[in-house]
Amino acid sequence: MSGFRAPRGTFDVHPEASVMRTRLYKTTSRAFERAAYGRIETPAFEDTELFARGVGGSTDIVRKEMFTFSDQGGRSLTLRPEGTAPICRAYLEHGMHKLAQPVKLWYWGPFFRHERPQAGRFRQFHQIGAEAIGSDSPLVDAEVIGLLHDLLHGLPIPDLTLRLGSLGSVEGRAAYRSELQDYLREHQADVAREVRERIDENPLRAFDAKDEGTREVMAKAPTMLERLDGEDAKHFAEVRALLDRAGIHYELDGRLVRGLDYYTRTVFSFETDRLGAQSEVAGGGRYDGLMELLGGPPTPAVGFACGVERVLMALGEHGAESPPVNAFVAAPDGQRDRALGLVLELRRAGVAADLDLADRSMKGQMKQADRSGARVAVILDEDGSAQVRDMETGEQRPIQAAELIDALT
Ligand code: HAM
Repeated sequence: MSGFRAPRGTFDVHPEASVMRTRLYKTTSRAFERAAYGRIETPAFEDTELFARGVGGSTDIVRKEMFTFSDQGGRSLTLRPEGTAPICRAYLEHGMHKLAQPVKLWYWGPFFRHERPQAGRFRQFHQIGAEAIGSDSPLVDAEVIGLLHDLLHGLPIPDLTLRLGSLGSVEGRAAYRSELQDYLREHQADVAREVRERIDENPLRAFDAKDEGTREVMAKAPTMLERLDGEDAKHFAEVRALLDRAGIHYELDGRLVRGLDYYTRTVFSFETDRLGAQSEVAGGGRYDGLMELLGGPPTPAVGFACGVERVLMALGEHGAESPPVNAFVAAPDGQRDRALGLVLELRRAGVAADLDLADRSMKGQMKQADRSGARVAVILDEDGSAQVRDMETGEQRPIQAAELIDALT
């Protein structure tokens, strides 16, 4: 023990936990490949201004959760708290508007928020995310939601609820915003100070407040969903019809607002009651105004992000599984070079194989074979012959060296 510890709110991933993460990565990348999404990677830090402008100055993320630092040249940089603004930056920087639209991108990587750590909430966490940029068709909303729905159900995460709402376009929201501001001013004595302070800047955040007083006030507040009209109402009705036809169940939720300011029109989240307080596994929505905020041309887009650690927590016990070893090769002294040769040959043939690397006795090696979860043990004898033992039934039989690979593949 050196006295050093991983920083608060961060964690090390041990080999056992890594097995499930790798499996999740493989499942996810196959799902995105099938859906024609290309993988994008952006840097772990960006100009602070990108998030200040993109995520919004009145959000908790920008106000108190960013890891911001100056580099040696005095530039202000921030460890990315989320992935959507960086991907919009990349889309604009690399002229992706010239590609066939929408451009469909996905990502997996670490994100950083200075939040109060608790179960399911970390300061360095990982997201699987997707962004479909360049189309305002309701089809894209439904495709993105359908993709996330199938991914989460296929894992499978138990007890999932999809909540769906619409915040309208920025223009469509203007009248509702002032109606909500009036309502909040009327009730300002009963809401939390933080909510009161943000009535002018960001009245919708009040829906997210945790304190009892504000919650009571917001339970009776008018919602944007009740005020949707014109093109916004038509768009939302089409998204709903497409989801209905695809057999995707959702709960309408007019109080669904999210922790980022860029959302317009469709918003959604997936929750499970397996996670306690941090019940949200994934969330997202449309952000038709974000590109312009970042200095680009009007470019509609929609996407989501899913918390890797929350998915793994919701999957539960499976996370403790050790890597599968199909064959454990045990050999007495004098035969260890043969054991290594065989293990390498098995691995080349696609069989997961392992051997003793700590000079254990034959008895110790058989114990190790058992612990490793191997399906079979291959026991090499001093005379050059071999036996194969079914670790479950204990059945053991001699086997010719030439047959071994065939028998195990
Ligand atoms: P978000 O809702 O802030 O959205 O985060 C998405 C997901 O990341 C959450 O549902 C949760 O599973 C996970 N997450 C967030 N914070 C933490 C944390 N401190 N510890 C563990 N997991 C966490 C976004 O980030 C948007 N960029 C999503 C999006 C993409 N919208 C459109 N495109």
